[in-house]
Amino acid sequence: MGNRLEGKVAIVTGGGAGIGEAICKKFAKEGASVVVAGLPDDPVEAVAKEIMQEGGTAIHFTGDLSLWPVAQSCVDLAVKQYGKLDILINNAGVFVETNYLTDYSEESFDYMMKNNVKTTFLMSKAALPQLQKTKGNIVSAGSEAGVLGIPQNAPYGGTKGFVIAFTKGLAAEQAAYGVRCNVVGPGPIDTAWTHKELGPMDAKMEKLNKQANLTGRRGTPEEVANVYLFLASDEASFVTGAHYMVDGGITIAKGPAGEEADSSFKQEPTGELNLQHSMEGHTSIRKES
Ligand SMILES: NC(=O)c1ccc[n+]([C@@H]2O[C@H](COP(=O)([O-])OP(=O)(O)OC[C@H]3O[C@@H](n4cnc5c(N)ncnc54)[C@H](O)[C@@H]3O)[C@@H](O)[C@H]2O)c1
Repeated sequence: MGNRLEGKVAIVTGGGAGIGEAICKKFAKEGASVVVAGLPDDPVEAVAKEIMQEGGTAIHFTGDLSLWPVAQSCVDLAVKQYGKLDILINNAGVFVETNYLTDYSEESFDYMMKNNVKTTFLMSKAALPQLQKTKGNIVSAGSEAGVLGIPQNAPYGGTKGFVIAFTKGLAAEQAAYGVRCNVVGPGPIDTAWTHKELGPMDAKMEKLNKQANLTGRRGTPEEVANVYLFLASDEASFVTGAHYMVDGGITIAKGPAGEEADSSFKQEPTGELNLQHSMEGHTSIRKES
């Protein structure tokens, strides 16, 4: 257990699976009280329980955060339970189709706008009055795809481009209230999204994810959570309006750089978190949300 977030209260959206689980567990290990928020089918209750079992502090919240009353209730729960809110992590998102645009469904487009874009807008709006009181901060999930675009899921890259520009605007505006806003830009990470058996990527895309970055592998959810931790902590007091890449160098790599990577780069770190839900992410349209 560390103390880099001692006394802080954090909401992590999409906290039940993938990168979100790692953020929740990392933050709890560093002393934060965590609200693990996700959709009704997400293992948010399990993550909160696992945190408590390891001596941390967490509660869960279920609901569709792309709806205003639900976003507000999530913030209300944090304040009711822990008395304040210091950190909002806008991590919720979906990746449900890969297709050339000529075949891309309008349903998937709308679904991503709702779950990637609207959640970030509404949760930020609901949280800001509380964050202004605590001089807190927001860290949102961008992506290398929000900078470079992504073939056969061009609309996904667009949603992440929104999050990046939105965050920069918010950082500039909210400085007047002492609130920092940053965005993390993961490359391909080892969650359900980047496995052909679990999500819409095919074998070729899966292979390209590893080849196209300088480590020749996917990043682990914990490696991404480490950067969220830094940005959300007081150590990042001079960092606001940044898009912080955690992409294995994919944005500067040229050609199949991963093929050339040293074996030490290809070795995933062991990590310290007990992650159980990395592969339980959101990779198809769910009707109930
Ligand atoms: N996995 C990657 O390779 C990768 C790369 C770049 C960026 N990212 C970003 O990181 C974030 C997490 O990705 P992941 O791979 O861990 O995904 P994941 O599917 O494992 O986890 C995301 C969670 O967010 C939840 N969620 C979606 N919409 C919601 C809503 N309306 N209300 C509440 N919860 C909602 C999902 O149900 C899911 O549990 C996403 O924003 C994604 O865009 C991921």
